[in-house]
This record gives sequence, structure tokens and C-alpha cells, in this order.
Amino acid sequence: MNHDTIAVVDFGGQYAHLIATKVRRNQVLAEILQPEDPIERFAKYKGIILSGSPSLVSRGEDSQYTHAIFDLDIPILGLCFGHQEIAKYYGGKVVHGGRQWGRANMRVVRKHPLFAGLKDVEQVWMSHFDSVVAIGPGFEELGFTEGGSDQEPHHFSAIGNDEKKRYGFQFHAEVDDTPGGDQMLSNFVRNICACDPSWTMDRYVEEQIEKIREQVGEQSVFLLASGGVDSTVAAILFHRALGALRVQLLHIDNGLMRKDESRRVVQSYKELGLGDTLHFIDASDDFLAALGKAIEPEKKRAIIGQTFIDVFEREARRLGISDHLLGQGTIYPDTIETGGTKRADTIKTHHNRVPIIEEMIAAGRVVEPLAELYKVEVRELGEKLGIPHPMLWRHPFPGPGLGVRLLCSDGKQGSAIAAELAWRVKAHGEKAGFTAQVLPIRSVGVKADLRSYENPVLLTSELSFAAISEAAGVMLAEIEGINRCIWNLATKAPSKVTLRTANVTRERLDLLREADHLVMEGIRRHGIHDDIWQCPTVLAPLSFDDKGDEIVIIRPIHSERAMTAVAATLPPPLLKELNESIGALPGISGIALDLTSKPPGTIEWE
Ligand code: XMP
Repeated sequence: MNHDTIAVVDFGGQYAHLIATKVRRNQVLAEILQPEDPIERFAKYKGIILSGSPSLVSRGEDSQYTHAIFDLDIPILGLCFGHQEIAKYYGGKVVHGGRQWGRANMRVVRKHPLFAGLKDVEQVWMSHFDSVVAIGPGFEELGFTEGGSDQEPHHFSAIGNDEKKRYGFQFHAEVDDTPGGDQMLSNFVRNICACDPSWTMDRYVEEQIEKIREQVGEQSVFLLASGGVDSTVAAILFHRALGALRVQLLHIDNGLMRKDESRRVVQSYKELGLGDTLHFIDASDDFLAALGKAIEPEKKRAIIGQTFIDVFEREARRLGISDHLLGQGTIYPDTIETGGTKRADTIKTHHNRVPIIEEMIAAGRVVEPLAELYKVEVRELGEKLGIPHPMLWRHPFPGPGLGVRLLCSDGKQGSAIAAELAWRVKAHGEKAGFTAQVLPIRSVGVKADLRSYENPVLLTSELSFAAISEAAGVMLAEIEGINRCIWNLATKAPSKVTLRTANVTRERLDLLREADHLVMEGIRRHGIHDDIWQCPTVLAPLSFDDKGDEIVIIRPIHSERAMTAVAATLPPPLLKELNESIGALPGISGIALDLTSKPPGTIEWE
């Protein structure tokens, strides 16, 4: 390993990836390891951070990890679950109780290098059921909290043993709601672990170039280039590493692209000087035929991923490109969301992680130079490589494209809504002063790190966006069995909602493409493109009061890393315009704005 590196042990908490990102901001590389990885893997790191977990230490859950890490002469910091495991391992006591939720103020007991540059009292973010009530020999209390959700003092919020270099924070230093958290993690990495801050983007570029040359050897790379940020950055990196003669690009129009997108992609690759090595194929017929009557999101995803490879291999044969590796712009969240670690549930199988590609990876036939980066880092890397700003700041667009924004139905699945659920949702809405109706269709979401496939709720209300969003959050927290709330842009709630039978067809895709185009064009025209991280437009086969066969859902969100997101709104004049222009498209029955954060929703509906 060329750099001082920190191991982040992922116990399945929501934020392991965030810990890694925050460590990297100190120009120190961080890698995610599994708790049961062999001890030899841990020995090469300069420090270890144990993440949080949905498991309970007090019940002995998830205690089968590599305990030999505690024999290593390497500093270890535990966060939440990790903090409790450290306390317990070294003779302290953890009980079920002392729960804290949300903000608390931590009083620092004494000046300690972990809290260098921080105040005596720091706001910290808590989320735990278990707590440490006694610490073992050699440990000291470094901080306790006062005035949290229950207004009670809580001891052992931060503990440490300087001789062994073992530390624990009950709070989540990695989340933005612990404002001093970045400094604390930096203190651990730089002061306690004494890491050299050598992981700069410039050096990363040099190293990746070396790595690509090593992996590819005398072969060449045939890159699937969607035109998105990730594959464009990967393309430029491959060119730098291997020269134009050994890199071929394939852009496939899968029929699931945005309006006019493929033409624009080809144009922009030409502008980047990649035109000579670019091949383009319109394979929309292949994708449509393969999708056939598939309805389930995971089935559709698997088909789309497989068809990419079928077309890719066919084109390679046709073009006489042999002895090549498949290049992909896969980034870190693609792997994680696909259940890329043992504890992570599969939320969605990303198109670049379907079984056929996993087999090719195992056979060493895939090269993915961005696989350990997050989107923010890919953009930074792209800037270093001189890629123009507008290309780097395009909204992310998923590989399966409109295919996962076009909900399908056999007319049955998801249509049977339990009477009790319908009643609870309706009553909840009435009490809060709006109309709430469970819709007879399902979409994918993520709750407590697990996949959900549940019904959305339609809210009809004249409340403001802020008020209705808050109400949606409360409803989603209180009622089980729903995972999204959408806000009806019409002022009247439908008195009849019917689920239609629908598949992936060219006509439906064209309709969605048109609606998506109106949304994206409006966002640009109103100058808010760069304020919004992404804005999927979704088509669902529902009819309101028998006026048409489809509803359109607009989903603007704010996010930084796509692992979490909050719903955004659009300016009221734009909403009004969209209500009219999308409403005038053939067969449109209703239009709504998605109010759901991630979790419990996901960004895409499928
Ligand atoms: P979700 O819907 O899981 O999406 O919250 C997180 C981010 O990932 C994008 N996404 C994909 N990107 N291949 C991709 O390249 C995929 O299969 C895929 N599925 C989701 C999504 O657009 C969002 O930015």
C-alpha cells in the first residue's frame, strides 16, 4: 500500500461509507473492511474505525467478528456500536437502555488530542438503544452529554485508553449534525494514528494510471460509455493510461435514454476528442424485446444488465475487437446498494453488478478505475483531468435509464390494499387537515438498511411544500406498510383510482421521455439545474377518475452521495407550467411531486 490507510469496519450501519468519505477529506485513504475479514488484512492499516450497526451489543448480536484486531498495536476508534464493543471487550459494561435520539451536548472532560481545536461543549448526534454504564481498567471518561432528548446527563459518551490507543464515541462523529465531527475524525487520523496526508487527487490519478496499465497489460479496453459523468471520467482516464489506440468506446442506445440523449452523447464525446474511438449502436429493439412482459423491478434490472453485455459482446465480435477487457465507470455506491458487502441488503441490483458481470469480474475480465470513489470524488477527479464543468455537473442518470422509471403492472400486484392500512392513512390525513389515499402500486424503498417494496400515498392539500413535506415525514414514520408520499398537483383528490395493466412499450417510453424532457427543460430554463442533485420523472399506470391511463411523478432531490437524499421542490411557476404541459400529453391522468426522503424512499422508484 502506497499510502497510510485507515480501515473502516462496516458492521452494517447506515453510515460506514460516510466515515470513509470523511477520512478521505483529510487526504488519507480509507477502505471498507468486513468484520470477519482475516486478521492479516487488518494488520497493514495505520488505524481502524468500527462503524455503528443495527445490532445490539447488550444482546450479544453480531459478536462473531475478528476479535484479534484488539491484539494489534494499531489505534482503534469505535462509533456507537463500535464504541460499545470496545467498552465491553476491555471489561466495561453495556446495557439495553439509556437511549438517546438526535442532538445532545457533549461536555469534554479534559483537554485531549481527539478534541484538539474544539470547544468544551460540542453538539453531537445520538441514535442508540444500548449504552455504556461502566468502563474497564485503564479507560477514562473523555466526555459526557447533558440536555439531550430526555434532558438527563449520560456518562461515557466518549471514552479512551491512551496507552492502548483505544477510543470510543457513543455519538456519530461522521454525520453533519455533529458539527465538530470532521475535526474529531481528523484528530484521530492525523494526531492519534499519525497518518501522512498523501492521498491527493493528483497522486490518485497517477496511481490509477499505473494500475490500469498493470491490469490491462498488452490487451485493450472496450468501455461501455453511457455519456454520464462516471463513464466519461473513466474514458479519459483510460485514454491517459493506454493511449487512443488501445481504448474503444461503445455507446449503446438502449431505448431507455432521455429525449435526444444519444445524439448529444456522441456529440460531447467528439468535443472531448474521443470521437475516433467511439462506436454507436441503436439496440433499442434488443432491450425492448428482452424486457417483454417483465414487471418486477429486479427482473427488469437483471434483463437490462444482461442485454448490455449481450450487445457489447456482439458488437465486439462484429468490430473484430478481440483480446479486450470490459471497461465500466462503476462507482462505490453501485456496489454497496447491490448488497456488495455481506451485511448489506440488496436494495437494488445496479446494472453494472448483474450476475453475468460478477462472473466476468471473477474471471478478471472487467476494469473499473472508479470503483472505490463516490460521485463527489469522481467529479473532483474529472476536474483534474480537464473535463469541462457542464459535463461533470450533469445530473446522474442510471444505467437502466427510463426502464426503472416506467412502472409496470399485471393489474394485480400491489393493488390489494389492506382495509386497515387504507383506513389508517385516510384517518391520519383527515386529522392533519388533508386528503391521504394509498395508491394501488408499489415502489422500492430502503428502511433501516433493508429493501422495501410498498405502496405510496397520494396527498391532496393546499398546504405549503414545507408543511406538507413535514406532514409526509410524520406519516411515513408512524404508519407501516407505505414507503413514499407524493403531493397531488391538482387541488381535488381523485374519487376513483384504478390500476391499469402495463408493460415496457415504445409508446409508454416515448410518453415518459416527453414528460421527462418537459421537466428537465423547465429546470434549466428556471436556472435551478445546479441547485438540484437529480430529478427523475416517473410514469405509473394509474388512472384517476378514469381520465387517462398514467400518472407522472416528479422527484427533485438534494443529495451529495446518493446514499441519502431529501426531497426538493420546484419553483411554483414551474410547477404550474409542468402541471399544464405534462397534463396536456396524451393519456395523462394526474401529476404529483414526490415528497419522500431517502430513507424511507430511494431516489429511483424501482
Ligand atoms: P437509488 O434509487 O438507489 O439511487 O436511491 C441512487 C443513485 O444511483 C442511481 N442508480 C443507478 N446508477 N446503475 C447506475 O449507474 C443503476 O443500475 C442504478 N440504479 C440507481 C440513481 O439514479 C441515483 O443517482
